[in-house]
Amino acid sequence: MVTKETRGWDNYWKRGALHSCVSASDKQKQQEINDFWRGIYAQFPDDIASLDIGTGNGLLPSLAVTYANEQEYDWEIHGVDLADIDPVRDVPAAQDILDQVNFQGRVAAEDLPFKAGYFDLVTSQYAIEYSDMARSIPEMVRVLRKGGIFCAILHSHNSIVVAQNNENAQEADYLLKSDIFTECKDLLSLMLSRKEAEGGIYNQYVENLVRLSESYPSPLSMNIIPVMQNSLMEIMKLSRKYHPQQVLEMVDNARRRLSEQRDLLRDLVSSALDEVKLEELLVQLKSLNFELIHEEKFSIGQENVMLGHYIQLKKR
Ligand SMILES: C[S@@+](CC[C@H](N)C(=O)[O-])C[C@H]1O[C@@H](n2cnc3c(N)ncnc32)[C@H](O)[C@@H]1O
Repeated sequence: MVTKETRGWDNYWKRGALHSCVSASDKQKQQEINDFWRGIYAQFPDDIASLDIGTGNGLLPSLAVTYANEQEYDWEIHGVDLADIDPVRDVPAAQDILDQVNFQGRVAAEDLPFKAGYFDLVTSQYAIEYSDMARSIPEMVRVLRKGGIFCAILHSHNSIVVAQNNENAQEADYLLKSDIFTECKDLLSLMLSRKEAEGGIYNQYVENLVRLSESYPSPLSMNIIPVMQNSLMEIMKLSRKYHPQQVLEMVDNARRRLSEQRDLLRDLVSSALDEVKLEELLVQLKSLNFELIHEEKFSIGQENVMLGHYIQLKKR
């Protein structure tokens, strides 16, 4: 039984992203990641069963379906996640593909609802390291058949993904510790009750938002702060259209969403493996009768930007 809090991921996947960790706007990076996984799937023949652990909204299964369809292969493709996922509902743009995957939410990597030896391939992209690996790795081993392959991209403590998200977590912390949400609510309440001239309130509201980025210690690398400044500005602009109570709730919601995001970012950073932890994982897998096929930095692009560790092992 795993009792981890999943609300942050539940809400994240409901908002419809197909994947996490790499910015959705970074299309080039995502294409290279997709091509990498396509190369993995191309190692497999017809009639296999594959499982993606911690699948989110099913990026990896969607790539597996696309590859299998192109080859006219009859693959049985599964994706599980501890969060309450429903990719077919939440990612309408990829519905046709995701519909061909067997998804199950509320499934812990530590307790997989499959028969022993069921799968030819188990994958994980930035996921299994979030679980209790002392329990999830033996579970993964149990459901993989003899000769089956385990492939994973894991967070690395010195990858750009972890560095960027660590900075994002610090920005989120800075905002959450600031008075900005209370100040915005106070000014909006004043404006909504028309106790003061609107122009003055509006200017003070904008000044408060501007001050946030001016006083942030590393203004050049900001990411979360401008997004929050825009959201709070949007709320100010919408304030005439909605009931005062709804407007104030929008500020509370923005804060709650930021707090959830900060927790996910912290989780990401603390799941990252350094060399010692990676070695421990490989020792654990070898002790479970796995043969190491690949263990390398997962880097992409001409500049070799490091996104994590890549491992591929075969069950003897
Ligand atoms: C960083 S996301 C990666 C999602 C997806 N693999 C991708 O690359 O887009 C990590 C996922 O692992 C899931 N997760 C965390 N702990 C888990 C556990 N113990 N068992 C199964 N899934 C878990 C989270 O709910 C989340 O969806």
